[in-house]
Amino acid sequence: MRKVEISPSTSIVVLTGAGISQESGLDTFRDAGGIWARYDIDDVATPEGFRRNPPLVHEFYNTQRREAATALPNPAHVALAGLEKAWLGRLLLVTQNIDGLHEKAGSKALFHMHGTLDGFLCEACGRRGAWTGDMSTSSTCPLCDRHGALRPDIVWFGEMPYHMPEIYQALGEADLFLSVGTSGTVYPAADFVREARQAGAVTVELNLEASRKGRGLFDLEIEGKAGESVPAFVSDLLNGRLW
Ligand code: APR
Repeated sequence: MRKVEISPSTSIVVLTGAGISQESGLDTFRDAGGIWARYDIDDVATPEGFRRNPPLVHEFYNTQRREAATALPNPAHVALAGLEKAWLGRLLLVTQNIDGLHEKAGSKALFHMHGTLDGFLCEACGRRGAWTGDMSTSSTCPLCDRHGALRPDIVWFGEMPYHMPEIYQALGEADLFLSVGTSGTVYPAADFVREARQAGAVTVELNLEASRKGRGLFDLEIEGKAGESVPAFVSDLLNGRLW
């Protein structure tokens, strides 16, 4: 496997999924007993579902927002924030997660491609902004004062994720691509590893178990809990012990 040089021109892209927040006490989606075992995606994670039953969708995200508000970053989030600080080159962290644990750990170069629980989108004025606490059909837009036009600023199935041009730009220039805690089942995020490989990046998966075992997408597959594997990997990377 090609050695990744550590220099100001070396570029890293990290993709994270629900697995990185599991040790912070937040459920994943597709593990046994996960969120999609308890809710139907069509009811709570599509525009059609929201139109059919806004109170159900608001309550789904209010529950997640309350849980995420008290959750703490675990060593995996902290290690990635430390990597951003210590890395000589460029680093972009792209998360599929809607919790704020990467921010709580100190990550700054961060895109929430599926949106965030800490935001609103107003269907009346089309603007987005910060939101804390529960949201309902009687919430008022802080920007246009319209009543009952807010939705969670979450990218639902069938909608275009945020920041895609910048993400593809970074993938096209990546020397190292890390995939942490994602099942690799939802596009376009599931394709990022292929984009990075085409750019010549070394690709590494750190997951409880290899998500796409044997499909040759990752140069290195590190199985285990992110709270242990990510700090160890970051330490080896920064100390030149990896290659
Ligand atoms: N450490 C590392 N990996 C873990 C851990 C852990 N402690 N716990 C679980 N995992 C792994 C699981 O093995 C699984 O491969 O994390 C992955 C979680 O997969 P999903 O539940 O499918 O979550 P994710 O990949 O983030 O889903 C992507 O799907 O429903 C949509 O919008 C939602 O952003 C989400 C997207």
